Order: sequence, then structure tokens, then C-alpha cells
Amino acid sequence: MTSAEEELKPYLVVDPHEMSERVDALRRQGKRIGLVPTMGALHLGHLSLAIAAKNECDVTIVSDFVNPTQFAPNEDFDKYPRTLDADIDLLSKIGTDFIFAPSANAMYPRGFDASVRVGGVSQLLEGRFRPTHFDGVCLVVLKLFNITRADVAYFGQKDYQQVQVVKKMVEDLNVPIEIEMLPIIRERDGLAMSSRNRYLSDEERKESLVLNKALDKAEELIKGGERESAVVYDAMRKIIEEAKDAKIDYMHIGDPKSLLEMERISGNVAVLLAVRVGETRLIDNRLIERK
Ligand code: PAJ
Repeated sequence: MTSAEEELKPYLVVDPHEMSERVDALRRQGKRIGLVPTMGALHLGHLSLAIAAKNECDVTIVSDFVNPTQFAPNEDFDKYPRTLDADIDLLSKIGTDFIFAPSANAMYPRGFDASVRVGGVSQLLEGRFRPTHFDGVCLVVLKLFNITRADVAYFGQKDYQQVQVVKKMVEDLNVPIEIEMLPIIRERDGLAMSSRNRYLSDEERKESLVLNKALDKAEELIKGGERESAVVYDAMRKIIEEAKDAKIDYMHIGDPKSLLEMERISGNVAVLLAVRVGETRLIDNRLIERK
């Protein structure tokens, strides 16, 4: 490694107290701190957030923590990819300042017994299929906000409901942080990038394109003036059912903020999809803005 690359390597912090102390010193110098919460296994989707943070903040922190509290016992916590060394190399290329990768014990020591639950938007959609998921997300995200005392945190539209849940938590609990949402980064063929895409077999990888195609169709119909959600759902279902291993968990047209379902489409809408392709559960969404 050349010394130039060495200089750009993010500083690895594993201890939450050390993270807070380092950031406090920088805050006292008036630095603007940007946080990108991730579970690692970084791809271009995550990097787009880290690049935005780099452009807009004086100091950037990427957290890399596979959070056990957001996985249900039957989910993929154990097999979730852990690639810290590769993550550090990727972040070196974009000049991230800190990578915060605590152990589960450091985040949830013996005797830990707190919970965070925002209700409302967290109960729909993913909340129905994964009832404890957003409680775990809120818990870890609030801890990360408190540990890093960031001014701004960056989230991807890929997990659209997650962004709305985090925003609601910030609003309801007066958390002093800005939340910024950035667009979905896709593979060239349209599949939204996700750490879970690596679970797909070659055949399933091809079939997974139906999510983006169904969203294209929804956008075409809604922009073309369709007002009945049922008609849009039918058209989307037809496309998804072309993939023999695809099973729809939900299709949903809702208000962009509350995500409450709209039977009749008016104004801007969010269209959200969760589809299981073989054993792998994929989500995708599209914000459709109308005048
Ligand atoms: P993770 O799935 O690692 O995602 C971290 C961030 O990257 C999220 O904000 C997610 O929306 C964003 N992201 C993922 N794929 C993306 C893509 N294709 N385009 C744009 N952004 C993308 O989401 C989580 O981790 C966790 O729930 C977390 C918030 C870190 C809490 O544990």
C-alpha cells in the first residue's frame, strides 16, 4: 500500500465510548459530523451515501454493525455477510474518516434492557412480515445517533419504510439530527443493489428483475392517469408472476409519509414491493410524483 492510500484509510473504532470522545473533540472545533449507518457488506448503494456525507460534512463516520436486535430468530443474522476488511478498503477510496464497528456486546452489554418503538408507520408492510424488525432498527439507530452525535445521517431510499420510521422517531423523540434520503442505486439491469442479492442463484438473479419491471409498469400507469390502485396491482402481479420462483409478500400504494394505503391514487404516492425469490426476500420501491 502506498502512503497516500494509508492516509485515506478510515480510522477503525470499536469502542462506543471512544467513538463519542473522538467526535466530541471534533464537534468542539465546530466540525459538521455525518453518519452513514450500515450493516457492512458494502456495495455502491452504501458508498453513494458515504460519498454524499463526505461532500457535505467535515467529518464522516460509517457504522458497520450487523445489528442482532433487528433480525427475528428465523432470519439470516448468522449467514448475513461480514466483510469488514473489504469494507475498510472500499471506504479508503472515498476518504471516510471513521469506521465504527462495535461488537454486539459493546452495543448490548449484559443487563441491557431498553427498547424503542415508534408505532404508526412501523406497523405496516415490513412491520407485518417482520413484527420486531423496526423496534430493533430504531434501537440501534438511536444508539448510533447518541454515540456519534452526528449532525446529519444518510439513509437510502432502498429501504423507504425504514427512512419514514426513522424520521418519525426523530420527530416524536426530538432527536437533534437531520435525516437525508438518497436515491436507490441499481445494477445495470435494474435490480436494486442489496447485500442479500448474493444469496440469489443465477436463475433467481434473472427472475429478480421482475421487481423493477413491475415498478416501471406502476409508474407508467400512474403517470398515464390511472387512479385505481387495484388496476395497478393487477398489472404488477402479472409481471411478477412471470417469474416462477417469485412469491409476493406485498404490493402497496400509499401516502409517501404515513404509507397509509390509497385505494384511489391522488397526488404523490410511494409504491412498495416485497417479493420472495426462492429463499431470498427482496424489497424495492418507487416514489411517483404527480402534479
Ligand atoms: P443496510 O442494509 O446495510 O443499509 C445501510 C444503508 O444503505 C440503508 O440506509 C440502506 O437504505 C442503504 N442502501 C442499501 N442498498 C442501497 C441501494 N441499492 N441504494 C441506495 N441505498 C442503499 O439498513 C440497514 O443496513 C440497517 O437497518 C441499519 C439502518 C444500518 C440499522 O441497523
